[in-house]
Amino acid sequence: MINIPKGTKDVLPNQSYKWQFIENAARGVARVFNLSEIRTPVFEHTELFKRGVGETTDVVNKEMYTFEDKGGRSVTLKPEGTAGAVRLFIENGLSNSALPVKTYYITPAFRYERPQAGRLREFHQFGIEVFGSKSYATDAEVIFAASSFLEKLGVKARLEINSIGCKSCRAEYNRALKNYFSPHLEKMCATCRSRFDKNPLRILDCKEEGCKKVIAGAPKITDYLCGECAAHFKGVKNLLSAQGLDYTVNPMIVRGLDYYSKTVFEFVSEAIGAQGTVCGGGRYDGLVEELGGQPTPAIGFAAGIERLLLLMENTSAPFPEEDKPLIYIAGLDEKSRDYVFGMVTELRLKGIRAELDHMDRSVKAQFKYADKTGVKYVAVVGEDELKNKTINIKNMSDGTQETVNISEVYSYLVQKENL
Ligand code: HAM
Repeated sequence: MINIPKGTKDVLPNQSYKWQFIENAARGVARVFNLSEIRTPVFEHTELFKRGVGETTDVVNKEMYTFEDKGGRSVTLKPEGTAGAVRLFIENGLSNSALPVKTYYITPAFRYERPQAGRLREFHQFGIEVFGSKSYATDAEVIFAASSFLEKLGVKARLEINSIGCKSCRAEYNRALKNYFSPHLEKMCATCRSRFDKNPLRILDCKEEGCKKVIAGAPKITDYLCGECAAHFKGVKNLLSAQGLDYTVNPMIVRGLDYYSKTVFEFVSEAIGAQGTVCGGGRYDGLVEELGGQPTPAIGFAAGIERLLLLMENTSAPFPEEDKPLIYIAGLDEKSRDYVFGMVTELRLKGIRAELDHMDRSVKAQFKYADKTGVKYVAVVGEDELKNKTINIKNMSDGTQETVNISEVYSYLVQKENL
């Protein structure tokens, strides 16, 4: 037997309604926030992610699914949605349309990571990307969209925000970090040492216990923000507070991808173990230009669907009831079964979720099966019913029965169920 690849998951028939619930919540939020769906290919030119996500990130250095296609081009399965969204924005000339361009996507993403609870090699993201606005109100709007989404799912996660400044304040901060880390560098891990030269800010993201102790005493970015970045951050915080959204400022959030500037944020939960970030995002004002477009400020987030599912299951967040068939019609003999086939087909064409037997079960077994599916109404057709042109429809939830004209099952269900 061939097994599923490590770090990937099947969605089984009795679980898919949970995915649909999350996806519908995402689409519902996208609608009220006036975001339009975009879809980008699952693979892109490798260069897009190298330049977009950044050469000093784990995602690019260690985790990409990169291969050469038969034409000798290097392509990569998307490790996240932002770089592709930016490419779409530039390539399709969307900077010439009315700004801001407000988009969302639901996409698979691929990272070659060590699988554990909440960390997979193929996972799925609901993401939002808004292009063209530098206003702090857009940051607040995007954070609100994330928070509304989580609220719709009935999950609780803590909001942590930070500002990592712009190029100019970051240059000064990087100098301060280097001064601070330089005497400690020898006892820090190899990754931190390599980040020291390339991108000292990334050191703050290290999870090694020894390094974490040193990092705890590092200077805070929030003390190095330039006037404009400080005012922007204040604007975001004021709007969040004014709308009653709780948050904490965590100056240690730098995010795992290189493109961020100014506002960054994460929604975190302790209920799903080490991989507790269910949603992360921030501003990336330089990325559109970096990838060859007109300078365009932008901001977005992505939430991991598998992590949300895990969080919902671990905290018993309520999923809606799984959709069940409304009616099951059993046939007693071959002639009746053929007739039932016509009845069920007609109901289905009219939009009723209806079921019949395909396994040549006895009537008793058909009833047992129907009951197991959670169906609400059951009816039987036999010689008598065909002769009298009436059938009994039994309501399985209260045990009541009613006799109905055999050609009026649809109207009966419409009336009973207010369809
Ligand atoms: P990210 O923080 O790398 O950001 O990923 C966003 C979310 O995807 C995480 O918070 C997590 O829920 C989920 N996720 C990431 N890696 C895995 C994994 N291996 N297994 C399961 N879930 C995972 C981004 O991807 C950015 N593109 C977000 C963004 C959009 N920033 C601006 N716009």
